[in-house]
Amino acid sequence: MHTIRFDGKAPGSAECEQEIPLLAAASKAGVPLNHRCGGHARCGTCLVTIVEGAEYLNERGTAETRVLEVLKAGPDQRLACQAWARGQVLCRY
Ligand code: FES
Repeated sequence: MHTIRFDGKAPGSAECEQEIPLLAAASKAGVPLNHRCGGHARCGTCLVTIVEGAEYLNERGTAETRVLEVLKAGPDQRLACQAWARGQVLCRY
């Protein structure tokens, strides 16, 4: 069991038993993360900043990297629809 926490306009957290995309954890937590393309790594509206727990996330894939480059995202930023968490994570949106 691990907790994924969201800090932003409407903070929340989700207890998760398995690896889960941050976007799905946000939905479970009732946190209103934008996701205009439906989680297909195309829009970038689900951009989050990882405050803690980056070591519990998967590596960036090709599609995510492309969008993050377009957004000029920092090294601590991820697309919530592409970042899968397997441990405690705190992210800001
Ligand atoms: S929901 Fe569009 S990039 Fe994540």
